[in-house]
Amino acid sequence: MKFHAIEFPPNGKNTSQNSFKRLFLTLTLIFFTSIPLYLIRKSQSPLPPQEIDISSLRKNREVLKKCDIFKGKWVPHPEGPYYTNETCPLIIDQHNCMKFGRPDTEFMRWRWKPDECELPYFDAVQFLELVRGKSMAFLGDSVGKNQMHSLLCLLSSVASPEDVSSKYSSDTTYFTHWFYADYNFTLASLWSPFLVTSRDADLNGYSYDSYMSLYIDEADKGWTGEIEGYDYVIISAGHWFFRPLYLHEKGQLVGCHKCSVKNITSLSVYHGYRMAFRTAFRTLLSLKRYKGVTFLRTFSPAHFENADWDKGGNCLRTKPFTNQERKSDDYIWEFYLTQVEEVRAAEDEGRKRGLQFVLLNTTEIMWLRPDGHPSQFGHSRHRNETVNDCVHWCLPGPIDTWNELLLYMMKMGVLKGRERKLMKNYI
Ligand SMILES: *[C@@H]1O[C@H](CO)[C@@H](O)[C@H](O)[C@H]1NC(C)=O
Ligand SMILES: *[C@@H]1O[C@H](CO)[C@@H](O)[C@H](O)[C@H]1NC(C)=O
Ligand SMILES: *[C@@H]1O[C@H](CO)[C@@H](O)[C@H](O)[C@H]1NC(C)=O
Ligand SMILES: *[C@@H]1O[C@H](CO)[C@@H](O)[C@H](O)[C@H]1NC(C)=O
Ligand SMILES: *[C@@H]1O[C@H](CO)[C@@H](O)[C@H](O)[C@H]1NC(C)=O
Repeated sequence: MKFHAIEFPPNGKNTSQNSFKRLFLTLTLIFFTSIPLYLIRKSQSPLPPQEIDISSLRKNREVLKKCDIFKGKWVPHPEGPYYTNETCPLIIDQHNCMKFGRPDTEFMRWRWKPDECELPYFDAVQFLELVRGKSMAFLGDSVGKNQMHSLLCLLSSVASPEDVSSKYSSDTTYFTHWFYADYNFTLASLWSPFLVTSRDADLNGYSYDSYMSLYIDEADKGWTGEIEGYDYVIISAGHWFFRPLYLHEKGQLVGCHKCSVKNITSLSVYHGYRMAFRTAFRTLLSLKRYKGVTFLRTFSPAHFENADWDKGGNCLRTKPFTNQERKSDDYIWEFYLTQVEEVRAAEDEGRKRGLQFVLLNTTEIMWLRPDGHPSQFGHSRHRNETVNDCVHWCLPGPIDTWNELLLYMMKMGVLKGRERKLMKNYI
């Protein structure tokens, strides 16, 4: 039995109560079909509970773990995307490649195909039932916000949210909040590109490559004050760490990255990156009221070719890479590995506190999609000007897959929670 068989009716109007009951029943079914026959036959004489516990739990895990949805390939999907720039009213110019003249559309016609199963389609009704009465925040930089906008579009065929940003924050450019009244669901994007406290530190003022100071053991107060109430947090960070940075710890300067100052210790870009995630995870683990599920969405690769991003580099491909074409940009895997190590440590700590940390392992998946960025059809978020953007992702486009993966992992989480409860009751 595979997990993808567990689907609610696509257009069913379930209450969340019903959805949970259904999951519960399915799980019970998995549970009972995975008890070896000899145990059932012998069940007239009661067995020591430990024996049942170990064998059936192990089998259960096997069922749940059978498909690694992050391992697979992109396959043609002639049906095309879930929405267009005309049917989704919430695409912003930064992601609206078609509006700014992108001529090709093949990049919208691919689907992620895990090797061992099918990735279920995004079911907006099912998603909204799962999050009824809950809240979700995308915490990180503008690529995190990119995923939130994909989600807004995926949900737009079912429900229209109200922009309630001004109720939460005076800074509605960087902190946006949407409310789905029919589902009492709040969706937010909290901008914090370094996750930790940061300040401009350049005598010449702010620019694309000006110095910034990071306080790598202090979580950014922009999000710490608000995050406790969220049920789901999708955390990510990336490209801002390539800037010249002064790194501070316990208030003291401990080193710098990309700096020309001779008497300051030079630290690799990975040090600041690792510490930012460590600090963010520790902060979540230390917040008394935080009960949320934390997803780490791993590093999203950029695809500048021919030159660096600030020297005319672009990304003009119109098809995914095949596995043979893959180049090795080592820094991408180093960023990714750093994150995976930190989230594994958080998982261990989280287990003690009953907090779930989940990996959204998207780096390799997206590395295969150099065709998914706006390139010269990109648009600045703040000014009316085109930019050559190989960092963000077009909507619709391959980033919609992140939300298919997110929904899948959310359902897995519910199942696992039910499994634990069921085992407890049984023992
Ligand atoms: C993440 O997914 C890639 C394939 O897309 C796989 O090679 C890698 O092992 C996965 N990482 C983890 C930690 O599961
Ligand atoms: C959608 O894209 C088309 C080009 O495919 C463009 O002409 C149109 O203006 C865009 N509409 C919106 C609302 O962005
Ligand atoms: C809406 O959800 C919030 C939690 O996000 C909860 O506190 C509140 O009671 C809910 N309101 C209604 C009317 O269900
Ligand atoms: C580095 O040298 C400059 C000028 O010589 C001095 O002002 C600064 O305090 C020094 N920094 C450190 C960390 O020693
Ligand atoms: C943005 O710039 C274009 C081209 O310069 C112009 O046609 C358009 O009216 C401008 N839009 C806004 C909202 O200012």
